[in-house]
Amino acid sequence: MKTIILGIESSCDDTSAAVIADGLLLSNVIASQKVHEAYGGVVPELASRAHQQNIVPVVSEALRQAGVRKEDLSAIAYTRGPGLLGSLHVGTSFAKGMALGLNIPLLDVNHLHGHILSHFIRETEDQEVPEFPFITLLVSGGNSQIVLVKSRSEMEILGQTIDDAAGEAFDKCAKVMGLPYPGGPHIDRLAQSGDPKRFRFSKPHLPALDYSFSGLKTSFLYTLRDESKKDQDFVKNNINDLCASLQHTIIEILLEKLKQAIRQTGVRHVAIGGGVSANSGVRDAVERLCTNLGVRAWIPKRSFTTDNAAMVAIAGYFKYLDDEYSDISLPPFARVTV
Ligand code: KG4
Repeated sequence: MKTIILGIESSCDDTSAAVIADGLLLSNVIASQKVHEAYGGVVPELASRAHQQNIVPVVSEALRQAGVRKEDLSAIAYTRGPGLLGSLHVGTSFAKGMALGLNIPLLDVNHLHGHILSHFIRETEDQEVPEFPFITLLVSGGNSQIVLVKSRSEMEILGQTIDDAAGEAFDKCAKVMGLPYPGGPHIDRLAQSGDPKRFRFSKPHLPALDYSFSGLKTSFLYTLRDESKKDQDFVKNNINDLCASLQHTIIEILLEKLKQAIRQTGVRHVAIGGGVSANSGVRDAVERLCTNLGVRAWIPKRSFTTDNAAMVAIAGYFKYLDDEYSDISLPPFARVTV
């Protein structure tokens, strides 16, 4: 009999459900919430309400696309945290109710483990996966970490941001340039035809493998303020160069520590994950760095970089194989470390 896992993700502003059978992806349905666009960021209360509206149709659609009846499910995996508490409550409560109703095990998943394990989502039987131990550069709207993945359940944070995440640097700088939220994809697009060396922004000098992005953000703001005093339409006239230079600096900051981590650990496999790993510049730069260092790069499919339930289902599947079931009384967590 196949092990069929339903994954549920509701940590931020995407409601998602996915079904995997023996590690093979059968469906991955994502309902993104447009309601936040007008506010320039995610409004937690609106996110919770949208999750409540979306969760039943999204789960039904994931089961339908997978050709699976709910009675066929072996277990239900859900994101327990980190994320927005109200949003997490919707997915958590739904998963608990469904698992209770079907009398099947419940599997709680750390959202960050999901991002890291997304490289193990198989869409074909012969798809290759990273070899342990490997390093993951986990870069999203809320996290920037270098994680040593020793096995599917043992992970060690080697370094992380002491202030803003890389995604926040993209989004906040995009906001002051008047770009819509989330700004990362817009900067990515505009940077394609800009000069990455035109502007210089400050880079942090932190020991070990930690990151910092708040200094870059401040130096970006100062450049904008100073130049706009001379030229009212400065942002409009220079948007491509601004985006390209900003993206270039973020990539330099990310890669410097990644390179150090690869050398330090001697790993042969290097992966990236999280929303910012959708960035074309980041993807190319990591690929190049790995080629130069003679290690294998694992660049995820773009649909697995942002929040999705397929990664929750695969992380849950591994927990199922290890008999690590979740207690029904576990509450969601806003903040969890790896
Ligand atoms: O992983 P994710 O979907 O949500 C979190 O769990 O945080 O990441 C969202 C972040 C946002 O900051 C967004 O701007 C960024 O990922 N992002 C990008 C790109 N696509 C998404 N940043 C740069 N370039 C992109 N193409």
